[in-house]
Amino acid sequence: MKLAVFASGNGSNFQVIAEAVEAGTIPGEISLLFCDKKDAYVIQRARTLSIPVISFSPKDFESKEIYEAELLHLLEEEQIDLIILAGYMRIIGATLLEVFANRIINIHPSLLPDFPGLTGIKDAFESGVKKTGVTIHFVDAGVDTGPIIAQESVAIEADDTLSDLEKKIHAIEHRLYPTVLAQVIKSQQGESF
Ligand code: GRF
Repeated sequence: MKLAVFASGNGSNFQVIAEAVEAGTIPGEISLLFCDKKDAYVIQRARTLSIPVISFSPKDFESKEIYEAELLHLLEEEQIDLIILAGYMRIIGATLLEVFANRIINIHPSLLPDFPGLTGIKDAFESGVKKTGVTIHFVDAGVDTGPIIAQESVAIEADDTLSDLEKKIHAIEHRLYPTVLAQVIKSQQGESF
């Protein structure tokens, strides 16, 4: 199973996924990290792990379609089976979705369908809800709307700060994402035999 990880920022989820691949708990190989931000820290993480990096921005292209067509070309060249979004802060467009239907997975830091979008942790915290969580889902054309694969909830305690909540959410993500990816990949491999 050839994996591509897409990320835009810090890359802590990328790091735990790469470690799980290295340890053999996620079957497959990470063929490339794609990053749309040339100075993102995730690029340094990939270099340290000797994972090939591809980085360009939609701003380098005339349209999102042309940007995604370039990306698609690279993914097809590498014969990528599965795209893993790990803090990739863009909506996947039709160009990639059509070819990778049901083969793109995302992690989102809320209990979807609540609090979709870029600031899921903060939005839940500020809304006053008593619990939030993490969702792993297949990507469709909507914003954080595809079929849900797994969810885990966490209580928001009265004395939690936003920073406390962020730490709790990230701890869940770092445990849940590698575990769920391993399950999805194993079940997809089972289906192909
Ligand atoms: C995570 O909270 C993830 O749920 C969201 O973006 C964040 C990425 O964090 N989609 P990192 O770059 O993996 O540290």
